[in-house]
Amino acid sequence: MYAQLVETGAKRVKSLDEMSPEERAFQERIDAEIKIEPKNWMPDGYRQTLIRQISQHAHSEVVGMLPEGNWVTRAPTLKRKLQLMAKIQDEAGHGLYLYSAMETLGADRDEEIEKLHNGKAKYSSIFNYPTLSWADIGTIGWLVDGAAIVNQVVLQRTSYGPYSRAMIRICKEESFHQRQGYQILLDLMRHGTDEQKQMVQDSINRFWWPALMMFGPHDDDSPNSQQSMAWKIKRKSNDELRQMFIDQTVPQLEFLGCTAPDPDLKWNEERGHYDFGEINWQEFYDVLKGNGPCNRERIATRKKAIEEGAWVREAAVAYAEKQKQRAAA
Ligand code: ACO
Repeated sequence: MYAQLVETGAKRVKSLDEMSPEERAFQERIDAEIKIEPKNWMPDGYRQTLIRQISQHAHSEVVGMLPEGNWVTRAPTLKRKLQLMAKIQDEAGHGLYLYSAMETLGADRDEEIEKLHNGKAKYSSIFNYPTLSWADIGTIGWLVDGAAIVNQVVLQRTSYGPYSRAMIRICKEESFHQRQGYQILLDLMRHGTDEQKQMVQDSINRFWWPALMMFGPHDDDSPNSQQSMAWKIKRKSNDELRQMFIDQTVPQLEFLGCTAPDPDLKWNEERGHYDFGEINWQEFYDVLKGNGPCNRERIATRKKAIEEGAWVREAAVAYAEKQKQRAAA
């Protein structure tokens, strides 16, 4: 097993015997399912892994607003526009809770955002794909937020207290997002024209595989999984979560009257799970390297927003200073 971990670049997990007394006490606390809180001692690797994962998660929530924002002005009805705006605002809120959770680990928000802007920090691959039709808004709510929920429901039990508590509210809101997305697609499939039904199928064809990529590389190719599982930051592996997502999503897909662009997708009675085809990992790693259809546009938009919002932040600081002076006077 260790040889295999080294080959895949995986971080080696120390046995209890190899740990310092502090590390052992920490691991025993985790094994006893006691949450780690900001003031508790923690190994530097645990802190750095969480800063990496939570900051990337926060960046994903914020960048994830962009593909949907593209459709606010073109939502087909006032009700749909309001729902979409509420959903996008929820995503902004998720980003804020997550940046706050990250700050409890001693990380600096501006520095982490700068890493996003200079390409050092990742965000979810899925948000580098364009939203070409109104059906994509339904598909993102249903498939993309659906995949996010499968991952995040488990993260409610993650070992770091502030992260797990942030996840509880986020999951509630994501459930609403998933339902509004599915409702958009159901309406198009039930009451739409042939062209609109085709639009739904086309959207599912484009987002199906990228949604499966959201769970990350296969377990054997995931350098962080072994250690993150030992620390109970991750409670289920990338492949386990991907399988859970497929198993719960295929019946919903069939209920819609649509198909997945995967000829190998079929129920396996013996395994009690759906079998599915191989993901195009070349595409996944290309997107991670910054070469997806929208990577450059997404980062340029985020940088512009930070620059153009500078005066708001300055005004808020000036106002807070003034309040402080008044209180002191
Ligand atoms: N998109 C971009 N990068 C990814 C993705 C993805 N879909 N999947 C894996 N990666 C990156 C990892 O961040 C890691 O890179 P790094 O070491 O430079 O940080 C590398 O690929 C190898 O992957 P793993 O070893 O499997 O990484 P990890 O253990 O962090 O697992 C996962 C990846 C499952 C995404 C985990 O970080 C996680 O659960 N994050 C929290 C959930 C989240 O971020 N969701 C965002 C999308 S949902 C939404 O925003 C609506």
